Amino acid sequence: MVGSPGRKKLFVKTYGCQMNVYDSERMAEAMGARGFEPVDRPEEADMILLNTCHIREKAAEKMYSELGRLKPLKWQNPELRIAVAGCVAQAEGEEIVRRQPLVDIVVGPQAYHRLPDLVARAESGPAVETDFPAEDKFDHLAARPKARRGPTAFLTVQEGCDKFCAFCVVPYTRGAEVSRPVERVLEEARDLVERGVREITLLGQNVNAYHGAGPDGDWTLGRLIRALAEIDGLERIRYTTSHPRDMDEDLISAHGEVDKLMPYLHLPVQSGSDRILKRMNRGHTSSDYLRLVERIRAARPDILLSGDFIVGFPEETDEDFEATMALVREVRYGQCYSFRYSPRPGTPAAERPQVPPEVAAERLQRLQALLARQQSEAQESMVGREVGVLFERPGRLPGQMVGKSDHLHAVHVSAADVAPGDLRRVRILRAEAHSLAGELAD
Ligand code: SAH
Ligand code: SF4
Ligand code: F3S
Repeated sequence: MVGSPGRKKLFVKTYGCQMNVYDSERMAEAMGARGFEPVDRPEEADMILLNTCHIREKAAEKMYSELGRLKPLKWQNPELRIAVAGCVAQAEGEEIVRRQPLVDIVVGPQAYHRLPDLVARAESGPAVETDFPAEDKFDHLAARPKARRGPTAFLTVQEGCDKFCAFCVVPYTRGAEVSRPVERVLEEARDLVERGVREITLLGQNVNAYHGAGPDGDWTLGRLIRALAEIDGLERIRYTTSHPRDMDEDLISAHGEVDKLMPYLHLPVQSGSDRILKRMNRGHTSSDYLRLVERIRAARPDILLSGDFIVGFPEETDEDFEATMALVREVRYGQCYSFRYSPRPGTPAAERPQVPPEVAAERLQRLQALLARQQSEAQESMVGREVGVLFERPGRLPGQMVGKSDHLHAVHVSAADVAPGDLRRVRILRAEAHSLAGELAD
């Protein structure tokens, strides 16, 4: 990227979930208002921002190895500022500066609007800010610039978590659950649409626990989605991540009634064993989950479900694991993420008797093989069907365009008259390893 002379350069690297992607974008915008423009390579930067994730041990370690790699850059350019944001910043705070003194700024997820001030403060030594300030960061972030942008966008509507699953750091790193007011969300959505966005994914760690203040009391996510669907030019709505306990009737029926709400739902269950679900503090049983899936499919029969699983949770037996396999066979997922349990400091499960690593690894392999089969079956089932595709960018081959189907499959077509942002009907011709090949049908 060619920079304009006189402007400072910001390099941002994002780890972790989509909420971090959204936050990185907002921080880059806040720094943009202070004269920083984005660059693609850390070597060109005056400031490097790592937006980090603490969810599993590997995620946090990645940050420290990245910092190690940045050392030579700091030696070459002592003016370079290095900032660590995100969930590792929140969890480890000053410890990061102790362990890696080249870090100038540490900023937790609820204090991003203070980043520009922290940059000024860092002139006279490390600046660390990991409070959960009383003010709402969203209200204090710079207004989004009016520039045109790509056809899809994330929009955070809810943050934090009050559920305290026994394995999870999120309630500690993101803080208590808060929802943004309805009008703020609608405003931001309208603004995104004016800038060319046609698909919005609403984000929250517990997005379906949304209860933002509306003109007539708190609104649910279902009601918010119905209001967003009224915005002309917004063609598609998605949301993630949902908790089974917060899937209310209004949200389920929205899947049958709101055309713009896409037929895809990420609904993590983590385990199929009631004993383990209880120890995880998930607050529901496997049959609660299966009944819920039935109700969702009754509202929207072609919905594609995805989920998250943890294997090798403390005290998980072979029988518990078989219950997870049985649940997966019953649900038939379209796509899933599965992880080996990773003990996180400060969470209750970290103190419990652990499953031997080789047992957990073997279970994970079996689960992943089953999930991969289900994923290719879901892809195969699309062959011959006509689906909506929102095109995003050119593909790898000349003349190819790539986009996402209603069911969130990557789809590529070879067609001369398709541009990013076009929403077209596509007939699916074949399933490939990680995408579908199609031809225009309109
Ligand atoms: N709020 C979401 C999940 C957020 S974390 C929910 O409630 O489902 C994303 C995923 O990371 C989780 O669904 C879980 O599967 C996984 N995860 C969280 N903590 C973990 C840990 N300690 N070890 C392994 N996987 C973990
Ligand atoms: Fe973590 Fe559970 Fe909250 Fe999800 S619901 S963010 S897994 S504590
Ligand atoms: Fe990771 Fe924090 Fe998201 S721990 S998954 S970046 S909320």
